[in-house]
Amino acid sequence: MSKVVIDIKGLNVSYTTKRILTSIYLQVESGKSYGLIGPNGAGKSTLLKAVLGLIDDYVGDIKVLDKNIDEVRKHLAYVPQKDEIDFSFPASVNDIVMMGRYPHKSIFQRLNAEDKKIAESAMKSLEILDLRDRQIGQLSGGQQQRVFIARALAQEADIYLFDEPFVGVDITSENIIISIMKNLVKDGKTLITVHHDLTSISTYFDSVIMINQRLIAAGSVDKVFNQENLSKCYGPQLTLLQKSALLVK
Ligand SMILES: Nc1ncnc2c1ncn2[C@@H]1O[C@H](COP(=O)(O)OP(=O)(O)O)[C@@H](O)[C@H]1O
Ligand SMILES: [Mg+2]
Repeated sequence: MSKVVIDIKGLNVSYTTKRILTSIYLQVESGKSYGLIGPNGAGKSTLLKAVLGLIDDYVGDIKVLDKNIDEVRKHLAYVPQKDEIDFSFPASVNDIVMMGRYPHKSIFQRLNAEDKKIAESAMKSLEILDLRDRQIGQLSGGQQQRVFIARALAQEADIYLFDEPFVGVDITSENIIISIMKNLVKDGKTLITVHHDLTSISTYFDSVIMINQRLIAAGSVDKVFNQENLSKCYGPQLTLLQKSALLVK
């Protein structure tokens, strides 16, 4: 049976005087894979950051695995939106994937053979083992994204937050990433993925969270991913193309 792994009550976030998220009540259930959708500027990234404890100024209550985020940080893995990552940072693929192990270590503990094994297995799953000594800046967009997904995998978390993992990614990388996500769900993990392509929502995810500053709807794709909620969520931003793609469904 699923249990609530993220419980958000009355979340409000503002930057200076601008309201970004208003009165969000949301329960995320274990073992589900959620697509998080909404127009540009809807507050999707802000919502993930609030769950991660990266937003200082908020009103409301957020519990992860029944605890405050500081107590359960290692159980949450996060892959930020691509434009928030500095790819000129001098680090090899191996360095970055190994970083996924740090949340399991105290400050005096070094990474050991077991950590190396876990990182290697993550690189193997994402088909980047042969790139392990390359600098991150030298890779293609799809390969870079796979490196950060491998870091998240190496963390062996319970909850995975992915912010637009398919943007700027080739189709081979997209397929590898989606199969990794499906395996995580099979293992009982919980996933929230910010996603833009409405046509692939029902094949990629079993559940959906729709926001536009406020929560429009959350639940199984079958129940809430419909024309009415999409219109509420996107308003005039719902393009003709997106509308026609939905009709084909
Ligand atoms: N650090 C920040 N300071 C001020 N405004 C911000 C900051 N981060 C995001 N915003 C604003 O908050 C709104 C929501 O941003 P974001 O959560 O990134 O939306 P989304 O991910 O849905 O596109 C946008 O209008 C954005 O310009
Ligand atoms: Mg965003």
